[in-house]
Amino acid sequence: MAKLKWGMIGGGEGSQIGPAHRLGAQADGLFEFTAGALDHRPEAGRAYARQLGIADDRAYGDWQEMLEGEKSRDDRVDLVTIATPNATHFEITKGFLEAGFNVLCEKPMTMTVEEGEEIVRVAEKTGKVMAVNYAYSAYPMVRQARAMVRAGEIGKVRLVVTNFSHGHHGDAGDADNPRVRWRYDPTMAGVSGQFADCGIHAMHMASFICDDEVEKLSADFASTISSRELEDDAMVNFRMAGGTVGRLWTSSVAIGRQHGFEIQVFGETGGLKWHAEQPNQLIYTPLGGRTQIMEKGEGGLFEDATRLSRVAIAHPEGFPLAVANIYCDLADAIRGETRDGLPGANAGVRSMAAVHTAVASARAGGEWMDARPPMFR
Ligand code: NAI
Repeated sequence: MAKLKWGMIGGGEGSQIGPAHRLGAQADGLFEFTAGALDHRPEAGRAYARQLGIADDRAYGDWQEMLEGEKSRDDRVDLVTIATPNATHFEITKGFLEAGFNVLCEKPMTMTVEEGEEIVRVAEKTGKVMAVNYAYSAYPMVRQARAMVRAGEIGKVRLVVTNFSHGHHGDAGDADNPRVRWRYDPTMAGVSGQFADCGIHAMHMASFICDDEVEKLSADFASTISSRELEDDAMVNFRMAGGTVGRLWTSSVAIGRQHGFEIQVFGETGGLKWHAEQPNQLIYTPLGGRTQIMEKGEGGLFEDATRLSRVAIAHPEGFPLAVANIYCDLADAIRGETRDGLPGANAGVRSMAAVHTAVASARAGGEWMDARPPMFR
């Protein structure tokens, strides 16, 4: 089968997420890296694209040039990944969707709920594949957890508890460092700091594993380093449409915690626990039974976990291969076989609605508020 052609915007040399996309897209021989506008500095972007093997005429200086260049070609790229800073996601995503390209956008998909709803509408109208990179949801043992919940193996879910808390911005003496400061500055980061950066992964994961949607929430935000305008710590209580009670803690000042993303799901007949620092394992406790460690690659797992596990049992699979799983599902979707787990524009706009609702709730002293985007009420 011929490889699909793939292009990327952002993710230039030294960027945080760019390497995970390049490794992920090319891990399974499904995509060929064909075009890119990789950097906010046009010449640096062109030079890096050439260094990565992209032909001169497809090493673009900016995204508009790439859009113009690609849309007039017979061999245009099949998929465009957007890995630029948040405030640029909306216009680039919209531009490429409207020109008939499939898009994978980094989270958060947009800055506002209105923009998010617009992306949902444009994706529906054009019929193109529109995905958001909630890559944690593509770890095999997260898919296993979702499949177990769906199969009723822990009974009706009562409670989901999740946190994504690290301590990497806990140094008050470093808080004015420009690389750290922008994340808590509303003119650069938007309405929310830590919740929009890390908390939305946890909230998406709760919806993903429970196979349910967040309906309402109550939030408490704190700037524990007082020079920060936006929150560096948040506690969010929520309820899902099916009645599940949700608790979410996210923090960037939890010194001693490293990655810090974990989730526990408690049902009527059992509990599950997954931790991003040990992603090959899912901990399962049946009611009244022994706790079991389930390992990626062992027998008896659900097909959705098995198909996304590609190295032998006990060999670690890390974050770039979770991103690769997103690209596997994207390749299938582009070829017409839609995969149930691929996070799409609906997940993107639900996250934006959760962020804006949490901000409003925190400002209103924790008042419970409807967290659904207006289009899904
Ligand atoms: P970064 O600041 O490390 O890199 C951004 C890259 O985009 C740089 O190479 C920069 O030159 C380039 N760039 C900026 N504006 C551009 C433009 N207009 N056109 C072309 N290139 C442009 O940022 P980082 O941390 O890689 O984040 C990028 C995005 O990825 C953000 O939206 C972030 O939220 C998301 N992200 C997602 C993660 C996940 O787990 N899904 C993890 C880390 C980041």
